[in-house]
Amino acid sequence: MTTEQVKQPKQVKTQAFSDQKPGTSGLRKKVTQFQQTGYLENFVQAVFNTIAPCTGKKLVLGGDGRFYNREAIQVIIRMAVANGFAHILVGKGGILSTPAASCIIRKNQACGGVILSASHNPGGPDEDFGIKFNGENGGPAPEKLTDAIFEQTLSLEHYQTIEADDVDLDQLATVQIAQCQIDIIDPVSDYADLMESMFDFDSMKALFTQDNFRMCFDAMHAVNGPYAKEILENRLGAPDGTVINGVPLTDFGGGHPDPNLVHAHELVDLLHGDDPLDFGAASDGDGDRNMVLGKAFYINPCDSLAILTANANCVPAYAEGISGVARSMPTSRAVDRVATAMNIPCYETPTGWKFFGNLLDAGKITLCGEESFGTGSDHVREKDGLWAVLFWLNLIAVKKQPVSEIVRNHWAQYGRDYFTRHDYEAVDSGNAQEMIAQLKEKIPSLPGQVFAGINIESADDFQYIDPVDNSKTTAQGVRLYLSNGGRIVFRLSGTGTQGATLRVYLDCYQNDPDLLEQDTQQALSELIQVAEEVVGIKQFTGREKPDVIT
Ligand code: G1P
Ligand code: ZN
Repeated sequence: MTTEQVKQPKQVKTQAFSDQKPGTSGLRKKVTQFQQTGYLENFVQAVFNTIAPCTGKKLVLGGDGRFYNREAIQVIIRMAVANGFAHILVGKGGILSTPAASCIIRKNQACGGVILSASHNPGGPDEDFGIKFNGENGGPAPEKLTDAIFEQTLSLEHYQTIEADDVDLDQLATVQIAQCQIDIIDPVSDYADLMESMFDFDSMKALFTQDNFRMCFDAMHAVNGPYAKEILENRLGAPDGTVINGVPLTDFGGGHPDPNLVHAHELVDLLHGDDPLDFGAASDGDGDRNMVLGKAFYINPCDSLAILTANANCVPAYAEGISGVARSMPTSRAVDRVATAMNIPCYETPTGWKFFGNLLDAGKITLCGEESFGTGSDHVREKDGLWAVLFWLNLIAVKKQPVSEIVRNHWAQYGRDYFTRHDYEAVDSGNAQEMIAQLKEKIPSLPGQVFAGINIESADDFQYIDPVDNSKTTAQGVRLYLSNGGRIVFRLSGTGTQGATLRVYLDCYQNDPDLLEQDTQQALSELIQVAEEVVGIKQFTGREKPDVIT
């Protein structure tokens, strides 16, 4: 591109939209909504206005490769130039996994990054798209900032852009548009280097090269394919073909890039049957979620967080000890028991990764996680799917035990927190709101009442005061604590794009050695009944059973 082609930045008149309130992980809508004239531009301008002045600053830009990723990147490059940025780092092919974007923002001291993703939601012309802004710490914008962005979207009259040709996203190169240098960078290498610096790659390599260890990583045609291939196959010596569905596709091959037992069934099959693999793993659309599986063995994400915490000393990056841990409120209390035993603090935060940011920045925690297949640490400011998989590989390599043995030993030592989440998707929003409203009204009268033979000890609507900046977040889900050690949480999803999604989380502690191997739904059947009796889920949702059980 020559500078002659470039015209002056211009202001384009626009009309504000009223529906651009970012949720727990950015603005997520149907592609068709994003394709409306000015829709993407307005949100991007609102971000730039909020973080202004942009002049002279450095921005990271990339996404999970889903449909509309490339078009959006060209729009954002032109707008970033017009808003005065001095430097933009764009992942080749428009690709950056969410954790890699976080890593690159931090490593290059950028003022932040724009990440294009709708995470685990399907992609394609009729599916979902999303955009979020991460700040200079590499983490999702805190609520104060997303509120300010939303305010901007409501009153926006103009956005700024510049006339310039599309940048070739497929060559590692540097181009200059007006004052701005645009580097098309390798999306993988910085992240892969970071992983190599943290884990015991020598022991992990020996698993593949000496121990005949067999694993499969299902990238689900999402962003992590190139990352997993580089790290597992090229750097750790796992055989070619270890990574399946490794090419990112705009529609994720028609699949649902959500690493759970339902959507990652191709992987699940490889861990069962006559000749099962030793280890399996998958990550989601933007690479921040993980599912890990042993030979015919499923690891619940809540247990995973607890086990990684208990064994952190096996990993070089954490060998000196960890400062504390945090979990989202609905996540089971398995990690709390480990923290108590290790004599480190354990924080309970609202749902959403952004609430871990302050704790990580302040050095109050090293590891954190959510029940929704999200686990991470202070190495970046996002949950990190591949990092969690490598952490498990590192444990397996050092402990020389299969996954199932590591988990069973953990339960034997700490007891087991049975956990399940029941999702009721795309239910009528009015009904869902009404159900939660009625439940909230009942809170004061619930303690002491007995449902399905179980006494409710206490109930509340979870609120959180951030221990670092004292900011208060309210209405984060209704919790019921039961006399049998069980807990039930009701909350509405903040990331759904259709109607409302009701999430019911159920967990119960068990330390009787004879009762550690029950079927989870069986072990929690009484709690499931209590949940129904307290709120009348069937009546409000019109559903006989949950749409998704994890
Ligand atoms: C869901 C998960 C939550 C996670 C978020 C973003 O949000 O439950 O833990 O942080 O996706 O990946 P929800 O739809 O429940 O608001
Ligand atoms: Zn994700």
